[in-house]
Amino acid sequence: MLKGMRILLGISGGIAAYRAAELARLMIRQGAEVRCVMTQGACEFITPLTLEALTGQQVHSELFDLTREREMGHINLARWADVLVVAPATADIMARFAHGICDNLLSTLYQARRGPVLLAPAMNTVMWQAPATQRNVQALQQDGVHIVGPAVGDLACGETGAGRMSEPMDIVAGVYGLLLDQSLAGQRWVINAGPTREAWDDVRTLSNRASGLLGSLIAEEATMRGAVVQLIAGPGTPATPGVQQRRDVESAEDMLAACVRAAVGADLFIASAAVSDYRFAEPINGKLKRGAANDGNGLTVQLLENTDIVATIAGMDNRPETVVAFAAEATDHLENARGKLRAKGVDAIFANDISRMGGSRGGGWWLTADSECKSGEMGKAELAAWIVQRVIDMQSGKQ
Ligand SMILES: Cc1cc2nc3c(=O)[nH]c(=O)nc-3n(C[C@H](O)[C@H](O)[C@H](O)COP(=O)(O)O)c2cc1C
Repeated sequence: MLKGMRILLGISGGIAAYRAAELARLMIRQGAEVRCVMTQGACEFITPLTLEALTGQQVHSELFDLTREREMGHINLARWADVLVVAPATADIMARFAHGICDNLLSTLYQARRGPVLLAPAMNTVMWQAPATQRNVQALQQDGVHIVGPAVGDLACGETGAGRMSEPMDIVAGVYGLLLDQSLAGQRWVINAGPTREAWDDVRTLSNRASGLLGSLIAEEATMRGAVVQLIAGPGTPATPGVQQRRDVESAEDMLAACVRAAVGADLFIASAAVSDYRFAEPINGKLKRGAANDGNGLTVQLLENTDIVATIAGMDNRPETVVAFAAEATDHLENARGKLRAKGVDAIFANDISRMGGSRGGGWWLTADSECKSGEMGKAELAAWIVQRVIDMQSGKQ
């Protein structure tokens, strides 16, 4: 999340300028304050009005604009931002940046600031590969500028190759890398999330009220802090645009297989999914008809117990170094969680109340063999960050 971060979004005059609107929206949705600076070229491709409507802020494009200079001068605008992101970055604007040419507002702002700069180049492949462009990119990198992309794919000019502007989420991930602490860089995390669904027949299922929200937010948070995350997601788990690898599964058995496969060689496994403890002994093909219970004895259905995923992973020979379980309890939360911590052989457990399932807020207890602490009641994004911080503290021996 980019909560509270101030992003100056520079837009230069390439065909991908229209995607800057999507990028601005994504950054705002993640909590950032975004102000836009557009070159004259960019205004040929997309109107400042679009960006003003999306950001709720005046869009700046003129260097010599005395009225605005009184309100927020170009130097203040440069100082205001935590990061300058230019997307798309044309061959032209990169040349100006690389050579210190300050003949428009964006290139002047670049020259007038000290903080991090992220460029997302976008252009035709030949332009990208042109010796001058490559020289400029190298010079900018030597000056400490970060470059994301360009991606390879179909280009607006009809050719295929390197030159597409990176996806907005990849650009946002680049911003995370610059602004957020990357203490999980180099780690591979596997997280399961959401409910599972057990088939009774081809129509009916046995499931639970879990939404997968907290697990998906933990996956996003770990990604933002530099981990490579693989999410094994049960039905209905929200979209996770920042997470590199995601596998959607349905039943507890599918989830077990996917988790065991993914956990081999991983640094950490977090079992946030509400996995069904039971499955139907004999799922029915087709649809069970009405009337099956008409003999007055009711309908008896046999359930079998599913394998405990987190205990299985904690018991693997090549298990991840850290295994974290979740426990949703109705009563005696701490006592039950302490018992599960020992019985399942996990390193930590997050215990919460079953009433939190499916909601947007949560809270609970974090337990390890020798420590216990309680979170306050908070939104699930904040709670996800709290849980990831507990893991980082545990890994660094602080708990
Ligand atoms: C239709 C059209 C599309 C263009 N697309 C790109 C592009 O994708 N990338 C690029 O570097 N330049 C592109 N250009 C060239 C730039 O618009 C031109 O170099 C301009 O001077 C850039 O100005 P600016 O960097 O100040 O925005 C395009 C030009 C036209 C007419």
